[in-house]
Amino acid sequence: MATMRAVDLIERKRDGGELSSEEIRWLLDGYVKGDVPDYQMAAWLMAVCVRGMSEGETVALTRAMVESGGQIDLSSLPGRKVDKHSTGGGGDTVTLVLVPLMAAAGLVCVKMSGRSLGHTGGTIDKLEAIPGLRTELTMAELLSQADRLGCVVADHTSELVPADRLLYELRDVTGTVPSIPLIAGSILSKKLAGGADAIVLDVKCGDGAFMRRHEDARELARTLVSVGNRLGKMFSALITSMEQPLGRMAGNALEVRQAIDVLTGAGPGDLREVVLALGGELLVLSGEARSADEARERLVSLLEGQEAWNKFRSLVVAQGGDVEAVDNPELLPRAMRVVEVRAERGGYVEKLAARAVGQAAGMVGAGREVKGQAVDLGAGVELLAKVGDEVVRGQPLARLHIGRPDRYEEAHAVLEGAFRIASERPGPPALVIERLP
Ligand code: URA
Repeated sequence: MATMRAVDLIERKRDGGELSSEEIRWLLDGYVKGDVPDYQMAAWLMAVCVRGMSEGETVALTRAMVESGGQIDLSSLPGRKVDKHSTGGGGDTVTLVLVPLMAAAGLVCVKMSGRSLGHTGGTIDKLEAIPGLRTELTMAELLSQADRLGCVVADHTSELVPADRLLYELRDVTGTVPSIPLIAGSILSKKLAGGADAIVLDVKCGDGAFMRRHEDARELARTLVSVGNRLGKMFSALITSMEQPLGRMAGNALEVRQAIDVLTGAGPGDLREVVLALGGELLVLSGEARSADEARERLVSLLEGQEAWNKFRSLVVAQGGDVEAVDNPELLPRAMRVVEVRAERGGYVEKLAARAVGQAAGMVGAGREVKGQAVDLGAGVELLAKVGDEVVRGQPLARLHIGRPDRYEEAHAVLEGAFRIASERPGPPALVIERLP
């Protein structure tokens, strides 16, 4: 076979041609080893962004990414292994509730998560709001906890899918993030390396999501499910709305409190609904329930019977966290100052922009604006009104929990601008928009 040259593969993709699996693997392996330089990989990524990839190419890319590093082998553990992934949004507390709920249902759920960046939150930062809780676990700790408890939430180790870390950093600075095959390769490679048999994908759609338009979210969901299934695992996807934030909190300790509320039977209905819908998918996919209705009934009873809550407490203890702080959430980190945002007029909340809420939470310290920045665990936004609620002039709409004061005024203005109040009551907000396949 003739020697491959990166420039030939770049040119072929630039002209709309297709690469073979061997060519994709050669390029990716060469990049991970340092033989293919950043500038050639960046040029190829841009060609993919503009020209797209066939499904066969996306399968080859995903497989090569998975095989760029180690994989978690859960096969020695009894029970079905399940996992979930969200494409990211504001106030997405789902993982903190869903993981212990799956373990309470007798499934094994080892969830590798990330940190927040930009306007979206990250589960690892949220969990670190629980004093002492460790998320950097060794493989031996992770497997032993999965065996004993059925649930783990850990930081992505550098051993899994090193190709994704390298590619993501390059994509972030070369304008090549929004490409469906590249997003699919990135998400699926991490899920496949995580060792689960059945995986549900929460594809967020709307103002606070990567995919703002329904057609784009559907195309991403379709690609994820189809490529994922071709790689031998069971995948399904729900397209869920990120037009307004899910739940009422955006921020680390605030979202832990909210998760505790749902686990103890009190939390916001929209968050609970999305958890039940995603969990129901996993029960059906893994053969633990025959229908979505049966799955839902079982999950509701595990929430009401406190089984999921007890699993959450056990997870906190197993990972070294202070269980008193979850039994009494008043002990969780708090912001130094809380300021209200009030309604400028009366009427109905017609729009509540998820992206702006996430940005405001980030500005007061809940997120990072640059990599490596420290987050303030108590900071964030608490929403007191959501779409459809009737409000009177001067009524508090939200509270800003201020950790980092330097951008407080900007955050206040952004949060105020996130609410649109109209005279007419709007229709009910969308929640679970579509299921695939
Ligand atoms: N989430 C990921 O993990 N990767 C992407 O490329 C986009 C969203």
